[in-house]
Amino acid sequence: MAKTLVAYYSWSGRTQGMAEKIAQLVDADMYRIEVAPDTFDRDMYKTDEIATAQIKNHQYPALVNDIPNVDQYDLILVGSPVWRGAPATPIHNFLNQIQNYSGKVASFYTDAGTPNGYEKMFKQWAGKLNVLPTHEGSNGLNAWLAELAG
Ligand SMILES: Cc1cc2nc3c(=O)[nH]c(=O)nc-3n(C[C@H](O)[C@H](O)[C@H](O)COP(=O)(O)O)c2cc1C
Repeated sequence: MAKTLVAYYSWSGRTQGMAEKIAQLVDADMYRIEVAPDTFDRDMYKTDEIATAQIKNHQYPALVNDIPNVDQYDLILVGSPVWRGAPATPIHNFLNQIQNYSGKVASFYTDAGTPNGYEKMFKQWAGKLNVLPTHEGSNGLNAWLAELAG
């Protein structure tokens, strides 16, 4: 089986739950993408404004925990909530910092029904990484994971 890392950012816990489920299914290591605690706000709308400004100004938040050596993995699954039709902004620097990784990358996300441009933006942020199909929500996980493995 491919050695897999599940790397995720979660603001209110849903994506974390999905990440844990996936990590169990494929026996993966986990890495929690974290930024400084004062980066966002407790309020969803304020957080949305902060993230939107970060994207507009190309000022993405720094990660506060070290990324593991990704070269040991065949596959990295990157989890995020959808924020205004895009990945959460901490995902940007994670993808930026693993640009030399030569394995496969795929994203999963949780949302409230309007993911809009999530996948397109994820691919844009992924730069030269080798990106496989994205997956939404907790249903159909096994089929998606089988597709990635195939
Ligand atoms: C700042 C912010 C922006 C959001 N924007 C969207 C959106 O554009 N589309 C959508 O479907 N859900 C949106 N949501 C809802 C989240 O994607 C959803 O609740 C997600 O499952 C939360 O994951 P988490 O608990 O891991 O943070 C937004 C939530 C927040 C906090």
